[in-house]
Amino acid sequence: ATPTPAPEKAAKQKVELNLVNPGKLAVGSDVAYPPFEYTNQTTGKYEGFDMDLAKEIAKRLGLELEVVNTAWDGIIPGLLAHKYDVIMSAMTITEERAKQVSFSDPYFEAKQVILAKKGSGIRGVSDLAGKKVGVQLGTTGDFAAQKLIENGIKFELIKFEDTPSALMAIEKGDIDAAIIDNFVAYLAQKNNPDVFEIIEDKTFEPEYYGIAVNKDNPALLEAINKVLKEMKEDGTYDKIYRKWFGE
Ligand code: ARG
Repeated sequence: ATPTPAPEKAAKQKVELNLVNPGKLAVGSDVAYPPFEYTNQTTGKYEGFDMDLAKEIAKRLGLELEVVNTAWDGIIPGLLAHKYDVIMSAMTITEERAKQVSFSDPYFEAKQVILAKKGSGIRGVSDLAGKKVGVQLGTTGDFAAQKLIENGIKFELIKFEDTPSALMAIEKGDIDAAIIDNFVAYLAQKNNPDVFEIIEDKTFEPEYYGIAVNKDNPALLEAINKVLKEMKEDGTYDKIYRKWFGE
């Protein structure tokens, strides 16, 4: 058999990936979640751990990266409506979500923490009783808060459209604390040590971030898992990890 010429082969592969815009990897992300995704206020560019990962994945697939900034609340519906090819938004792999979308192999381990106003006196989840607690609507922080309430810890749960609004509310004293992903809390606390304190509680279980792909696009899922694996093996993943989280 005559070998297929390389350019033709590459072109054929892109068609098989079944992308929203041929030649592009369109990534849906709620770009308000530093250090995973945020807008650099000076350059106006999107940056963060997920953004670096997305760039590298796109490059390895021979695609141009296009980030579609999307409200978290509609991020899965947007994927299902084929507004973008994948979601990369520090999204935790959950059973519920996996009914609607396929998840890549896990690429990051996280957990919930309590981010409280400094001096709140909160030491653990039971101290949330009687407090005002913020979460980003529809996040695993939201689900963890609901579970605490079901378990009898009574507090007022306030849901925000995005995480920066919840952080702002703590700063202003409108709420006492938030339940959010640990690395987002670590950065907020590092930037504002006089405002925030972090309380880790053993009852919060480990979570794993995954890249969400439409269930009708198994070829793309497979291609992403392949490059993720290669990036872990050749040290690229570690390099990006160290850039954002240190050793
Ligand atoms: N990991 C949490 C979840 O999946 C929060 C993610 C929020 N991401 C964002 N870009 N706002 O529910």
